[in-house]
Amino acid sequence: MTTSTIHHLLNQMTVKEKIAQLLQLAGPFYKGSNQQGQITGPMADMPITKDHILNSGSVLGVSGAAEVISIQQKHLEENRLGIPLLFMADIVHGYKTIFPVPLAIGCSWDLDLAKQSAEIAAKEAAVSGVHVSFAPMVDLVRDPRWGRVMESTGEDPYLNSLFGQAFVKGFQKEDLTRDFESVASCVKHFAAYGAAEGGRDYNTVDISERQLRESYLPAYKAALDAGCEMVMTAFNTVDGIPATGNKELMRDLLRDEWGFDGVLISDWGAVKEMIPHGVAEDEKEAAKKAILAGLDIEMMTACYAQHLEELVEQGEVDLKLLDEAVIRILTLKEKLDLFNHPYRGASIEAEKEIVGHADHRKISRELAAKSTVLLQNQNQTLPLDQNQKIALIGPFADSFDLLGPWAGVGVKEEAVTLEKALKDHLSEDNLIRSQGCSIEKITQSQLDEALHAASEADVVVLAVGESSSMSGEANSRTNIQLPQAQLELIEAVAKTGKPVVTILFNGRPLDLHGVVEHSDALLEAWFPGSEGGNAIADLLYGKINPSAKLSMSFPYNVGQVPVYYNHFNTGRPKGAPDAQEHYVSDYMDSPNAPLFPFGFGLSYTQFAYDQFELSAEELTLDAEIKASIRVMNTGSYSGDEIVQLYIRDISGEIVRPMKELKDFVRISLEPGESKTVHFSIKEEQLRYHHKDLSFSSDAGKFEVFVGTNSQENHSQFFTLTKKGGQKL
Ligand code: BGC
Repeated sequence: MTTSTIHHLLNQMTVKEKIAQLLQLAGPFYKGSNQQGQITGPMADMPITKDHILNSGSVLGVSGAAEVISIQQKHLEENRLGIPLLFMADIVHGYKTIFPVPLAIGCSWDLDLAKQSAEIAAKEAAVSGVHVSFAPMVDLVRDPRWGRVMESTGEDPYLNSLFGQAFVKGFQKEDLTRDFESVASCVKHFAAYGAAEGGRDYNTVDISERQLRESYLPAYKAALDAGCEMVMTAFNTVDGIPATGNKELMRDLLRDEWGFDGVLISDWGAVKEMIPHGVAEDEKEAAKKAILAGLDIEMMTACYAQHLEELVEQGEVDLKLLDEAVIRILTLKEKLDLFNHPYRGASIEAEKEIVGHADHRKISRELAAKSTVLLQNQNQTLPLDQNQKIALIGPFADSFDLLGPWAGVGVKEEAVTLEKALKDHLSEDNLIRSQGCSIEKITQSQLDEALHAASEADVVVLAVGESSSMSGEANSRTNIQLPQAQLELIEAVAKTGKPVVTILFNGRPLDLHGVVEHSDALLEAWFPGSEGGNAIADLLYGKINPSAKLSMSFPYNVGQVPVYYNHFNTGRPKGAPDAQEHYVSDYMDSPNAPLFPFGFGLSYTQFAYDQFELSAEELTLDAEIKASIRVMNTGSYSGDEIVQLYIRDISGEIVRPMKELKDFVRISLEPGESKTVHFSIKEEQLRYHHKDLSFSSDAGKFEVFVGTNSQENHSQFFTLTKKGGQKL
């Protein structure tokens, strides 16, 4: 089908049929609809008729080849013009083979593996009938109270952009039209959903346009530059206007400025939510605002379906806007080749073979190991020795709750638990098991038994954390410590004097008081996915040396939040040489620094940095400076180090962050080996949004930092010179 045939099809469509293309309904409307098209169950009160359903454009949350084929077949029989449905679903970190949660993947700093994880997710989803994945979620996050931080890759615009691109390329591969192992990608949630006030889900977002452009927008833009086909709007307001009715965001920025011509979809129910937000009196006004602002598909409310026809008849909405939205949706169907192959990759046979394939689990295992961050390792407690007798204690020791939220059709019970993995590694005599407590409760007898187990062992492995229902959508928390029961367990076990290795399973950076001081070694495993237990065992026994680095800061306490590495200095920074004693920007009862900063993560080996050199002290517009540093493995294990480069603009037109990540590189070093790492610094890396929103750099002094994390690094200065006040 070509542009002209899409127009030909459009010309045959009635206004009602066009509007129905803009409607997205969940599976139960198709599966649960009886002859009369009546819906039973919780969605029964949606004003949807059989007519709406058989003309609708897309389905949400249905997968499985048999199911998709049957719905599509029935739809094609009944739909007057034979327009196929689009099947969309949340394939966030895997379909059936579940990878670590995105925040964990962010800590891998491994773009190739991230891309591979999306490719596998796409392959499994596509063969199960899915056409579009509602991912990646690239919302920048600074507030661990927000339950959805686990869906993001973290707090840095640059890193998030790279991951956003990697995921899009993995999902969509090279050619959506010919390669049916791909799915179209829908980046979300546009815009700045991660900046919800107080970390409370769905809450107000109010940030300056400059900050929006500098920190929050780059990752969406990067995803679109990588070819992402769709954008989902956010639930929140941006500068007082709900994103779903926000013309500045959709028509002005996305469409006009960035040239995005793909499909824009609302989040679940977000069109109707303009009423409680307080910008629409009723559904009709909500529908009008959404279409005028540029929204194409309305997910799970029926404001368009109910009112758009009348709005067009009354001349309040130009038919042209409706036509444009329909054309975009039909064009996406065409790109996915649905007019020729309405079932696309869906295959009942191939599905059995591909979904959950052992090769996919292998990659999941590798990625989980690369995403697990070693936060502490006193006295080289880790790696463990197979001859040591370990007491495995805690609610996550045998828990299947390893997949985390948004786990596709992943089956918890198919995940490898830590206990199962350790049993494969150890002789029976060397593994003592005790429950210790549940996620939120502890009894005296559990505690007694745990202490007894600890006393029998050489080392204690404590598997603790938050259940997956404590993070994810609508799961914000003001207390981000581990539940009290687990803190009691940890403290009591530590008192036995046995070395304690604590493994954390959770979806957000936690306040680790009560954990760090009682742990000799501390591994942050996040929700590691289907192969979690195996990956952790690989790390515990040194088969793999940890290399992950935090992509989101761990606060010292919740009162510091938001705490992130790329903050401003203030006029009264703490610790400056001439700082006053009292009137500085700090807390009376807490340090300013997070407990573990962005970029932080240990290895079983040690890396020493020296010989930091810049090739020049002056940077001109057409040249570059080479920054080089020698990294030496001074420990006794081979290992990978992620060498990070940050820059600070010392004096800008606008205050610039203390540091901004600009580049990084992974190197592998054998014990005693050293390598010199080279980075190049160019003027374009120094640009930012000025007061007039122009994107340019300032001539003047810059500081460049290279090192092992955002706090520990070597630094030097250079100057950017521009002839005749040249602005770029
Ligand atoms: C979430 C989205 C998701 C959608 C569809 C919403 O509640 O915010 O991220 O894509 O549901 O499942």
